[in-house]
Amino acid sequence: MPFKFLTLEVADRVATLTVNRPDKLNALNDATIAELGHAIDKVRVDDAIGGVILTGAGRAFVAGADISELSSQSPVLAKARARAGQDVFRRFETCPKPVIAAVNGFALGGGCELAMACHIRIASEAAKFGQPESKLGILPGYGGSQRLPRLIGKGRAMQLLMTGEMIDAAEAYRIGLVNKVVPADRVVAEAREMMKAILANGPLAVALCIEAIDRGLQMSLEEGMILEANHFGLLAATDDMREGMSAFLEKRAPAFKGK
Ligand code: COA
Repeated sequence: MPFKFLTLEVADRVATLTVNRPDKLNALNDATIAELGHAIDKVRVDDAIGGVILTGAGRAFVAGADISELSSQSPVLAKARARAGQDVFRRFETCPKPVIAAVNGFALGGGCELAMACHIRIASEAAKFGQPESKLGILPGYGGSQRLPRLIGKGRAMQLLMTGEMIDAAEAYRIGLVNKVVPADRVVAEAREMMKAILANGPLAVALCIEAIDRGLQMSLEEGMILEANHFGLLAATDDMREGMSAFLEKRAPAFKGK
């Protein structure tokens, strides 16, 4: 399906998905949200794609939901819009293939929420983060009030949501919002390097790591441990384990040979 507000390119099993509305700082109108849903569904089912890097065209990653659409919404439409966006972002979060956000610039409102729905965030030194919705008399609608405290803790999430303040990449790294900060011209390259390291590992092992962390965060510790043990058992029956173990043992055989 051709996209109007995105580009999707695949090279060496890595998809690069770019939000491409630079004149509006990649603001997420409803059409862009729908396209993001189609794009992540394609990533999930296409065997030629091992993982996806999400970035933005121009000087923004995504500067939020499109304010021109939000400004006239009724309560019913506002709730439906939030649920539709939450559903799309959740499909990024639960994608069994790695999703890395290469945050090249502004990641505000829905942009910060979209980055948080990705598994890993690499930020340019020029990136800026924030949830400025309270300044507009609303709150985040695409999962920000739920994912931000899970990522950075309750107190810091309260501060960012209530003040609506914007923070720079160094502060985002300090509080655990991003995994790494790199020079602006390296952000996609660094994401590719990290993706390459992940794709060198067994795809099912990676998929089950994603699932164990995502589902485990919604479970009691005991339930999460059972989930982990089940995945651990399952992987013992797969090529991922056979290949991973034999590659390791080939290099380090004498010290680690099984008893
Ligand atoms: N929705 C719709 N359009 C947006 C947008 C948004 N969230 N963010 C930026 N744009 C548009 C601007 O309207 C402008 O369009 P125009 O050139 O047709 O007038 C264009 O993108 C460039 O933005 P501009 O404000 O001129 O750039 P700037 O460098 O002066 O400021 C920001 C950048 C990000 C600080 C500023 O655009 C901003 O505050 N955006 C809104 C952020 C926000 O509140 N997001 C959460 C929404 S819930």
